[in-house]
Amino acid sequence: MAENILDRFKEVVNETVIDASKKVRVGIIGTGWIAEAHMLSYLNQPDVEIVAGADLVEGKAEAFFEKFGVEAKCYPSHKEMLDDESLKLDAVSICTYNRTHAECAIYAMQKGVNVLLEKPMCVTLEEALEIRKAEKESGKIISVGFQPRFDENMKMIKKIIDSGVLGKVYYIQTGGGRRRGIPTPFGTTFIEDATAGLGALGDIGCYSLDMVLNAIGYPKPLTVSGYKSNFFGTRPDYSGYVAKGKPEYAEKFQVDDFAAAFIRLDGGIILDFRIAWAMNIDTPGDTIILGTEGGLRIPSTECWNGTVGGAMKLYHEVCGQQTETEIPIIKSDANRFDLKIRSFLDAVKNGTEAPVPTSQILYNQAILDGIFKSAEAGREIEIEIPEC
Ligand SMILES: NC(=O)c1ccc[n+]([C@@H]2O[C@H](COP(=O)([O-])OP(=O)(O)OC[C@H]3O[C@@H](n4cnc5c(N)ncnc54)[C@H](O)[C@@H]3O)[C@@H](O)[C@H]2O)c1
Repeated sequence: MAENILDRFKEVVNETVIDASKKVRVGIIGTGWIAEAHMLSYLNQPDVEIVAGADLVEGKAEAFFEKFGVEAKCYPSHKEMLDDESLKLDAVSICTYNRTHAECAIYAMQKGVNVLLEKPMCVTLEEALEIRKAEKESGKIISVGFQPRFDENMKMIKKIIDSGVLGKVYYIQTGGGRRRGIPTPFGTTFIEDATAGLGALGDIGCYSLDMVLNAIGYPKPLTVSGYKSNFFGTRPDYSGYVAKGKPEYAEKFQVDDFAAAFIRLDGGIILDFRIAWAMNIDTPGDTIILGTEGGLRIPSTECWNGTVGGAMKLYHEVCGQQTETEIPIIKSDANRFDLKIRSFLDAVKNGTEAPVPTSQILYNQAILDGIFKSAEAGREIEIEIPEC
């Protein structure tokens, strides 16, 4: 066929071809709130068979699958499901509350099943190290559920730093939070120690950390001086409880609703961080990244919802003139949850590295754990991460 000269001007788009004849057999562990997002994204993929699910609450997994019209075998916990070898599972999504992340991920690794693990990776650094060990021994992959990584604006932060335009990065201020926003959508699993283990730190703090640490290549954290408090969640008159008619939630609140920290990272980088589920201010400020050649301002962002808070600004010098360059927001229709699920499935099918690897997120967890321990001790502590 004769060449259409206009075709030369078409943009070349690299579309991944999905081999739908090769299906990934998936199970879902924990069928609560976030499991619904996993389910919707799996249903958007042509090469997935959802074959099983598990939940500790009797009848919950059955009701979950019925809601989506999916026929899947249901189990009373992750263990029974992973023990059933007839399922021939390739992968599981772990959508349980934070306290059971480690035991579910480690058991899945021991059974040779790949894992998409919801964030935070777990609760303590010790658990994170056990997860890494199990992953290494199994040869399977664990990818951690940070969907904002797949946002084009978030990718732009990393591209800007990788370009070298900031020079050597030496100081980062990040974090964020809500004026009133303690999550109790379906009960108290986010606020009780037995289920959540960490409050604002584990829910949204880990996202703020991932946004900047991923951009600068995840340097090792060395020391931390941390603070945490719970002045809002423990009040029966907290507005969220009053709105729900649940003042008794105050007694169940056992985690942090605010945390702040000063963290020293390898390479002489300082990280100044704060995170809030509730505070008496609208925002604790923008994220700023200072380098020897330039600075980047990322407008105060609820990055846990997936993207930056507005157009970013680059402060630099051109021929001796101080200059600001606005980085326009990149608009995209792509669903970040779909991209998170797709990247995980591709890694499982191709035997490649996890898209959000535990080798990086181990450092994220070490910082959360360090803030917690430093706050309990009331002083700066060293973060010791054994080689693994
Ligand atoms: N990526 C995101 O945007 C996002 C958003 C919300 C929550 N999350 C994360 O997802 C996780 C779950 O949050 P959620 O709001 O869905 O919680 P949820 O309390 O609604 O659901 C968790 C479910 O896991 C079940 N469960 C716990 N341990 C289990 C086990 N061993 N075997 C089987 N089932 C088990 C519980 O019975 C519960 O039904 C949390 O770690 C949270 O941080 C991520």
